[in-house]
Amino acid sequence: MKIVLNHKCNLTKDEFLNYQREFSKIKTSHSLVVCPSSPYLALFNLENVALGTQDASIYETGAHTGDIASSQLKSLNVKYALVGHSERRKEHKETEEEIKKKIEKLLEQGITPILCVGETKEERNKGERLEVIKRQLSILNSFETKNIMIAYEPVWAIGTGLVPTIEELDEALTSIRFSCPKSTLLYGGSVSDENIEYLKTSKHIEGYLLGGLSLKLEKLQVFLELC
Ligand code: PGA
Repeated sequence: MKIVLNHKCNLTKDEFLNYQREFSKIKTSHSLVVCPSSPYLALFNLENVALGTQDASIYETGAHTGDIASSQLKSLNVKYALVGHSERRKEHKETEEEIKKKIEKLLEQGITPILCVGETKEERNKGERLEVIKRQLSILNSFETKNIMIAYEPVWAIGTGLVPTIEELDEALTSIRFSCPKSTLLYGGSVSDENIEYLKTSKHIEGYLLGGLSLKLEKLQVFLELC
C-alpha cells in the first residue's frame, strides 16, 4: 500500500529532526511518502521513504516571491506533491485552473502529483458528491493519468474523526476509477489505527493519506501493521 503522510503546518525544526530520528525506527513493508512543511524539505534524510511536498507553484523559477517551483522541488529530491488539498482550496482560494497548472509543472519535472478531491458537508447533504468529484477530476482530461495519484478526501471527514460508509467510499472510488483508470487511488480523512480495520473492507482503496496520524508515531506503527 502507498501511505502518504501530510504533516501540514506542524513541527518546529528541532521537533522535525527528532521526528525523523524516531521515524527511522518504524518497521513496515508499505511504501511511505512523507510530506513535511516546506522549510524542512532540505533536511529530509529518511531511508526507504520518499519525499513529498504539500504544494507547488504554478510558476517556473523567477520573480514569484514566496513560491517554490517544481524544478526547485526536484532539486531537493521531491518525488510526490499534494495538489488541490481542501485546505488550500479553501484558505488560498485555489482554482481548478491553478491546480491544473501545478500538475502540469510537476509532471514536467517528473514529480508525481497527488490530486486531492472530495465534497464538503453541504455538497454531501445536497447529494452532489459524485458531481463534485467529477468536476474536480475534469482538469485531468489532457493528462496521462497513470502518472497522477488521486486522494479521495471528503472535506467533512478531514480532522473530524468521521469517515464515509463503505458504500459511500466504494461509490466514490468507483467513479474516480472510471475517470482515471490507471491512477493509484488513496483515501484520506480521519484515518486512524482504530478505523483501519473498517476502511480495509473497501476493495478499492490502494493507499491512505494521513494527516493527524502522521505525527503520532506509536499509533502510526500500529496502523501500518494493521493495514
Ligand atoms: P486527517 O487529515 O488525517 O487529520 O483527517 C487528512 C488530510 O487532510 O490529508
